[in-house]
Amino acid sequence: MESLTLRASPSPASPLQRRLPGRRATSVRATASAGAAGEPDLSVCVNGLKMPNPFVIGSGPPGTNYTVMKRAFDEGWGGVIAKTVSLDAEKVINVTPRYAKLRAEPNGSAMGKIIGWQNIELISDRPLETMLNEFKQLKKEYPDRILIGSIMEEYNKAAWHELIERVEESGVDALEINFSCPHGMPERKMGAAVGQDCGLLEEVCGWINEKATVPVWAKMTPNITDITQPARVALKSGCEGVSAINTIMSVMGINLKTLRPEPCVEGYSTPGGYSARAVHPIALAKVMQIARMMKEEFDNGQSLSAIGGVETGNDAAEFILLGADTVQVCTGVMMHGYPLVKKLCTELQDFMREHNFSSIEDFRGASLPYFTTHTDLVQRQKEAIKQRKAIRKGLQSDKDWTGDGFVKETESMVSN
Ligand SMILES: Cc1cc2nc3c(=O)[nH]c(=O)nc-3n(C[C@H](O)[C@H](O)[C@H](O)COP(=O)(O)O)c2cc1C
Repeated sequence: MESLTLRASPSPASPLQRRLPGRRATSVRATASAGAAGEPDLSVCVNGLKMPNPFVIGSGPPGTNYTVMKRAFDEGWGGVIAKTVSLDAEKVINVTPRYAKLRAEPNGSAMGKIIGWQNIELISDRPLETMLNEFKQLKKEYPDRILIGSIMEEYNKAAWHELIERVEESGVDALEINFSCPHGMPERKMGAAVGQDCGLLEEVCGWINEKATVPVWAKMTPNITDITQPARVALKSGCEGVSAINTIMSVMGINLKTLRPEPCVEGYSTPGGYSARAVHPIALAKVMQIARMMKEEFDNGQSLSAIGGVETGNDAAEFILLGADTVQVCTGVMMHGYPLVKKLCTELQDFMREHNFSSIEDFRGASLPYFTTHTDLVQRQKEAIKQRKAIRKGLQSDKDWTGDGFVKETESMVSN
């Protein structure tokens, strides 16, 4: 199967014109990956990127080197977003322990199901050249599979341009821009420091989109009052899509014996990023807000990649019902391993079969129209109560009998 990634040579045209002639070819199916006859078809085509299913490895440990990314392709993930890279990995210094888990059982019993995960991990600490060689190798071995480079740089146009050029040369199909890492990197005016400042974001997106020749997704931080604002800025600046959410700023807990915060490094800690099951409802709200904004204001095939707490096909179905084109999984892979994708596909197909959906497009965004304001809910409830009361009281006049409601109308006038 030939990848549809568009890699036009740079031209003076706007970034959208440059990369986006009808990019989200929603009617295009990846025929090689369509399910067996009669099976719901999970394939998607997003910004010209064809994937056998909407499940994408989210940037993080599951996309950190050649071995694990190869494993993801072998297990059948629709695409892989590599761990975020920057020009100078020597500036990235990680600490251990850097993860902490929240369990559902009282007192965090080790038998309890993991519902929350905190990390204070930075972006990739592996040399850029090593990562790029691995991207090249993967694209050589899996030319028809989607590999997305995740990038982050300091507030410096030349540095961004150099990073984009070098990562694109490795053959990646698209770029995801990490405007959202909540810890460590903001201290260097990177990650969430840009994603939380719409002025900075607009400027940096401008630099990125004048250089990039592959589709660009801007990854949003949830650590902001109104996530639609940076999403709008990124799309207006020419990004082809947005991804949401990155982790939520968190403090996992305080050890009540030592009185020190967790995860504890040499007696101290720092707020980290929260992920896994517990963030799913928050991610749904953020994705819903972005999807509504995109529906109202953008109609040129811009895409939405949903992330946050996905462990089942139903979790993914919820994101797609809100309008997501693809669904990313990071912590879920860290907990269940790469074969998780098979369960996700089976469960999503079960859901589709139950509703007679034959393709992802059949239900993408179907639940979005059912969100409204609280004031409108009050109005709708008043109206419904009025109608129910009217029915209970019986008909006011013989002219009110209807064909469809005839039996109920008759019942409403029976005394016992
Ligand atoms: C240990 C860890 C490392 C992560 N590293 C990155 C990263 O390098 N770049 C990035 O954009 N997101 C990173 N993330 C965020 C995830 O890609 C994802 O947005 C977030 O964890 C929510 O999704 P999840 O609940 O499926 O994990 C990381 C997450 C975890 C748990």
